[in-house]
Amino acid sequence: MYVCICNGITETQVARAIGNGARRTAGVYRHLGCAPQCGKCVPDVLSLLRTEAAALDRTRPGSTLRSAP
Ligand code: FES
Repeated sequence: MYVCICNGITETQVARAIGNGARRTAGVYRHLGCAPQCGKCVPDVLSLLRTEAAALDRTRPGSTLRSAP
């Protein structure tokens, strides 16, 4: 599913950028070699950052966060 129409960025690409270390919206766009144009996708990228980064943190060794049952 497309997250950013202006740059043709998909949810999978955003998740991959987060998996590769992007932790801020600007970092996601930088990882993908582009920049926001109209900005309508920024809230969606931020939402993905929160959910994907939290999921990654839960799987990190030594993390005190736990998945919901
Ligand atoms: S939809 Fe992403 S910059 Fe326009």
